[in-house]
Formats: sequence, structure tokens, C-alpha cells
Amino acid sequence: MANILVTGGAGYIGSHTCLELLHAGHDVVVFDNLSNSSEESLRRVEKLANKSSVFVQGDIRHQAELDQVFQAHQIDAVIHFAGLKAVGESQKNPLIYFDNNIAGSVQLIKSMEKAGVFNLVFSSSATVYGESNPSPYQEDMPLSLPNNNYGYTKLIIEQILEKMALADSRWSIALLRYFNPVGAHKSGQIGEDPQGIPNNLMPYVTQVAVGRRESLSIFGNDYPTKDGTCERDFIHVVDLAQAHVLAVANRLNNKGCRAWNIGTGSPISVLKIKETFERVNGIQIPTEFTKRRVGDLSAFYADASRAKAELGWQPQYTLEDMLADSWNWQKQNPNGFN
Ligand code: NAD
Ligand code: WQD
Repeated sequence: MANILVTGGAGYIGSHTCLELLHAGHDVVVFDNLSNSSEESLRRVEKLANKSSVFVQGDIRHQAELDQVFQAHQIDAVIHFAGLKAVGESQKNPLIYFDNNIAGSVQLIKSMEKAGVFNLVFSSSATVYGESNPSPYQEDMPLSLPNNNYGYTKLIIEQILEKMALADSRWSIALLRYFNPVGAHKSGQIGEDPQGIPNNLMPYVTQVAVGRRESLSIFGNDYPTKDGTCERDFIHVVDLAQAHVLAVANRLNNKGCRAWNIGTGSPISVLKIKETFERVNGIQIPTEFTKRRVGDLSAFYADASRAKAELGWQPQYTLEDMLADSWNWQKQNPNGFN
């Protein structure tokens, strides 16, 4: 069993991953500045796991804070979730994204090197495939510049990590390229809790369902897809969390830098999400079609065969599970962790 440092571990995907790590018998140290999360998620994780973890409030951009964590704890591997993720905000304030995501990751790499810790799992994104690759995306396709600054930070960090592994054979790095994470732990105790108006589809749908928003706007119904709305590869957050447990185990036994897609491989339209949510949960979602959102791709989905072959990872949850679990979380926590 290993001692894992989880940056951004209080957040949506991080909290679910901490729970799976604790269930798998690992020890967990969470490092998070709580800029987009609350410590309550970690209290709930500990309760669900019936096991405690260590929480350190700190910022990945601050070297002394990170160094202190590595001095205080014997860390075997790091899972690096910490970062900002709002595409629109990254267009308005690129420097905040370059600083938090890129400079913060460089700082983490420096502290890891100093501490002699070379196993790293990084939260990347399908956005690194850019705008022109055909689906299903495969890991060895040429990457290209995403059309937004958030995506750009993911591509740059991936490239920095690849160069680190090329230059120094002690590194063992997993680049997990997530598709569209949704859902929540079955208990409904932890889940996605965006601040302000949600940017992403799923929390918007659940906030309409719970009465916090009036209606869902579907951005465009004139795309070249079956029903005219965009198609995405939605993945249950617990399946995604499991992929991290497997990736850590893989990295503790291998060297180099390797990318894995984490998606189901099935494209699902935005309209189908709304209709399936209504059917599974018995709630109507008032909806209007509005104009396309700038920057949205029509459709993309994963070829996840590499993760299956090399990590032994396969999604366990259905689309119905994703939508039932998202709602179960939201209805038990209408105002999130507040
Ligand atoms: P989240 O915002 O819920 O979690 C990120 C966590 O990082 C938060 O708890 C936040 O407080 C923390 N954080 C941010 N900046 C920090 C800093 N400078 N120092 C310390 N902590 C900091 O987001 P999430 O959805 O859980 O995403 C986790 C990671 O996965 C992110 O890197 C994100 O870019 C990536 N990712 C997310 C998605 C998605 O759709 N949710 C898709 C692909 C990739
Ligand atoms: C999904 C679909 C929208 C909200 C983003 C990032 C990506 C990754 C995941 C981190 C799109 C439509 C949405 C709404 C809508 N994040 N939609 N009404 O854009 O696929 O991916 O999050 O790495 O990098 O770009 O996810 O949930 O925002 O949108 O119609 O109110 O839902 O147009 O087609 P996206 P999303």
C-alpha cells in the first residue's frame, strides 16, 4: 500500500478519487487551497471510508508549502488534480490560468524532484486532441492546440511532463485524458458543487431539477449529429476515480510517460442527456434551444482500449447510473456543501 499526495483532492474528481484510494487501502494526504472546494467534502470522504486522511491547506504555486508537505510525509506517488478549469474564464483571464495550472505544475514537479518522488498521475483532458482529430480519439494521434486557454494549459503541462520523463529516467508519469466526467458517489454524500452559474451541462441540469435555475439552454441544435445537438463521451466519476487507483499502481511499477484515454467510447447527445435524466428520475427539465456556444466541437469520444489493455480499467456504470447518481447528490444537497 502506498502513501499518495493528492493535489486538488477536495474537489469534484479529487474527493471521489480519495475515497477510492482509501477503500483500496492507500494512505492519502490532500493538498488543496480550497479555491473551488470545501473541506466538508473530505470530512464526508473520511466518514464514507471509515478511515482518516491528512489535509493540508496550501497552494501548488507556493514552493515552501509544497516542500513542507514532502518533508512531513513519506510520499510514494502524487495525483495532481489542482488547477482551474473554467473555459470561459480562461479566455478572459489567461494569466491566472497560466499561473495556476502551468506555473503551479512546474512548482509541483520541482518539489517532487527535490523530495525524490518521481511517480505522478496528471489530470489531463480530451481537449488536448484539438479541433481536427476524428473520433474515436486514440492516444497516439497528433495533439494540436485547443481553441481555449484552459485546454492550452493542459497541452503545455502534458508536454512539460513528457520532456521531464525524457530527460530523467527516474520519472514515471501517467497522463489521464478525461472525457466528460459526471455522476456522483452512490451515497449522494459527495458530488460536483460548482460556484456560481455552472459552466458544464450536468450540474446545470441538476440545478434546474432542484429549482435553483429556471430552464436549461441547449446550445445549438443544428450540429451535424443524429439529433442536431452536440455529442460527448460522459464518464461516471467513480469509474474515473478507479482509473486513478489503477494508474497509480501501474506507475509504481513502470517508468516513462504514458497517456490513457478515460471515457466510455460512446457518444451521447445533449438532448439524450436531458431526456434520459427526465425518464430515469421522473422530473421534467424545462428546456430551450439557443445559439451555439463559441468553441464547442460538434462531437467527440474516446477509444479507451489502451486503458483496458494496460491498466485493466473498464467503466462499470451506465448512462442511467450517471444521471440517477447526479440527481441523488443534488437532491440531498440542494446547495452543495454549503
Ligand atoms: P475542481 O475544481 O472540483 O477541483 C480542483 C481542485 O483544485 C479544487 O479543490 C481547488 O480548490 C484546487 N485548486 C485549484 N487551484 C489550486 C492551487 N493553485 N493550489 C492548490 N489547490 C488548487 O475540478 P475537478 O472537476 O475535480 O477537476 C480536477 C482536475 O481534472 C482539474 O485539473 C481539471 O482541469 C481536470 N479535468 C476536469 C474535467 C471536468 O470536466 N471536471 C475534465 C478534464 C480534466
Ligand atoms: C457539454 C455539452 C455544450 C451547458 C468541457 C471542457 C473540457 C472538459 C470537460 C476539463 C456541450 C452543452 C452545456 C449548458 C448546453 N473539462 N451544454 N447547455 O464543453 O464538452 O467540455 O468540460 O477538462 O475541456 O471544454 O463540457 O459540460 O460544458 O458541455 O447545451 O448549459 O453540453 O454546448 O455541447 P465540454 P460541457
